[in-house]
Amino acid sequence: MTTTTAGEQAGYMFDNATDEAANQLRFLGEILDPGTRRALTEIGLAPGWTVTDVGAGAGTLTAWLSDQVAPGGHVTAVDLDPRHIPTAPNITVRAGDIRQLTLDGSQQAVVARLVLMHLPERQQVLAQLMEALAPGGVLVVADWDCTWRDMVRRSPSPRATALIERFHDGLLAFGESRGADMGWAKRAPEAMLRAGLVDVVSYIESRSWRGGTGICLLHRSNSIQREAELLEAGMTREDLTELREVLMDPDLVMSGYLMHTTVGRRATQA
Ligand SMILES: C[S@@+](CC[C@H](N)C(=O)[O-])C[C@H]1O[C@@H](n2cnc3c(N)ncnc32)[C@H](O)[C@@H]1O
Repeated sequence: MTTTTAGEQAGYMFDNATDEAANQLRFLGEILDPGTRRALTEIGLAPGWTVTDVGAGAGTLTAWLSDQVAPGGHVTAVDLDPRHIPTAPNITVRAGDIRQLTLDGSQQAVVARLVLMHLPERQQVLAQLMEALAPGGVLVVADWDCTWRDMVRRSPSPRATALIERFHDGLLAFGESRGADMGWAKRAPEAMLRAGLVDVVSYIESRSWRGGTGICLLHRSNSIQREAELLEAGMTREDLTELREVLMDPDLVMSGYLMHTTVGRRATQA
């Protein structure tokens, strides 16, 4: 099992530079953008806003935000490895580790989807993200609760269910060894209140997907990206080949992890 060694900062369990990462990040957008867009629309996102997308990944949200805030608005997209983020005249791309970056304090909204769960310094980063907001600005933190594991709605066979379970055991244990907190999404409201945000509200969402679509494609992609760690965890190459076939089987129906989208506002000064 790969673990963090002394001197190495714990963090993100995937790598945007791998061949499979573009697929993974695209699948995330397809699975999650409808819910995140609803939350952003509900907070009143409008032309002219300045917004930061933290850990922008494929930039699917960045591109949508750039359309929503035009004319006159601006989107800053931050990522450790921003190679997949699209460009536009009103998008600034910043490469860097959010734990070390200073963001200016003028943002009307900051969104961080599937980032804080990966970072052991999540409480410190929350404070930084709050500081990036103008008074009255809104922070949207979206993370998966991966401790909810009852996700197989219909299985082609008991063997298929067992393979999916073993895949999850191996993948999540690897993530935890890198510093991810698979249940942090449930504690985000408390953490955001502790950081000083007000009007904190959380929405929880999941939907089901057939084999070959949505979350099943994401699991397949993750099994390719973290193949070495899954082999170290005891799965065989034959198991992984079979798992990937199962994940493409239309007889499989799986729920996604529970997505917690937690929204809070920086207090306006008295
Ligand atoms: C799971 S992906 C989520 C991508 C996108 N937010 C989404 O939900 O579709 C996490 C992204 O955060 C970036 N990331 C991870 N740790 C980071 C850090 N410390 N600073 C900046 N970006 C980070 C990764 O490079 C990756 O693009």
